[in-house]
Amino acid sequence: MAEYYDPATYPKEWNYLQPGTIIDQYVIERELAHGGFSSVYLARQRDDQIQVAIKEYLPRKLAHRTWNNKVVANDEENLRLFQCGRNLFLEEAKVLATLKHPNIVEVVSFFSANSTVYIVMTYDYGVALDKLIKKKKMKVTLEFLQTVFNALLDGVEMMHQHHFVHLDIKPANILIRPGYNPLLLDFGAVQAFPGGEQKQRSKVISKGFSPVEQCHGETQLIGPWTDLYAVAASIRSCLDAKAPVSAIERIKKDTLVPAVKAHKRKFPDAFLQAIDWAMTIDPANRPQSVQEFRQALQIFNEV
Ligand SMILES: Nc1ncnc2c1ncn2[C@@H]1O[C@H](COP(=O)(O)OP(=O)(O)O)[C@@H](O)[C@H]1O
Ligand SMILES: [Mg+2]
Repeated sequence: MAEYYDPATYPKEWNYLQPGTIIDQYVIERELAHGGFSSVYLARQRDDQIQVAIKEYLPRKLAHRTWNNKVVANDEENLRLFQCGRNLFLEEAKVLATLKHPNIVEVVSFFSANSTVYIVMTYDYGVALDKLIKKKKMKVTLEFLQTVFNALLDGVEMMHQHHFVHLDIKPANILIRPGYNPLLLDFGAVQAFPGGEQKQRSKVISKGFSPVEQCHGETQLIGPWTDLYAVAASIRSCLDAKAPVSAIERIKKDTLVPAVKAHKRKFPDAFLQAIDWAMTIDPANRPQSVQEFRQALQIFNEV
């Protein structure tokens, strides 16, 4: 326990593993991204130089890194939460390691080091969809949306068939690879359904993408339709070039203009109706399976 931890004087270079750091059988090259719960690094396997992405559990509200790279809880109070979170993070890795699909990020291994845990993934070259939208790098055509979301739904469907829901689908967690080939990332909120046990982690809620049953923590109402709301909201955000209004706001007063109205004549009606259907506030009134949603979008798997 580092009782002297003071965020004000904390050395910045301890926030991330420095380039050249050796960890397990990998050398860190650089930081790729960081969020509130983790950091993601580009690294290389020492024996064959193959590049990998490594995700490190580091919930910044609960813990910090010290001079020797060890991650320690900020104080006694946070120690138990940190340890719980660490176990769940490892669970995320184990679940992912069993889900192999071309549109789902591949976990190659996981290990403990520096008093925390690391997930090793295949490194994929691409740009997160939220960045593409923000930079308005490409024209949002029906063909683009079908290419991206048809493939994404394939991956989501496979997960659902294994009785897992992702619960954090959003453009920031969709990596667009060359050829508009999407990769679903970030299984930090993954849960088993039905009746996934209540997990002792802070609820993951992404404003605009998480539906009402998730915001209200009604775990018994969570299922494939919860992910479908998030997928539809992701498609919607491509159309609008911004995140949709949040589910919490929508319950108070639904200001979301239906896609059929907002994007009339720019896209086929059936396609827009399908988006609106999956973004219905009441989970019971949404498509209940990927297959139903796919049919409504009128995008079919090429066999
Ligand atoms: N396997 C990977 N290959 C390439 N980039 C990745 C990979 N995994 C994560 N990233 C990058 O790191 C970012 C954060 O990853 P993510 O798993 O979403 O972590 P967080 O829990 O911090 O949101 C992604 O938006 C992406 O840019
Ligand atoms: Mg993420």
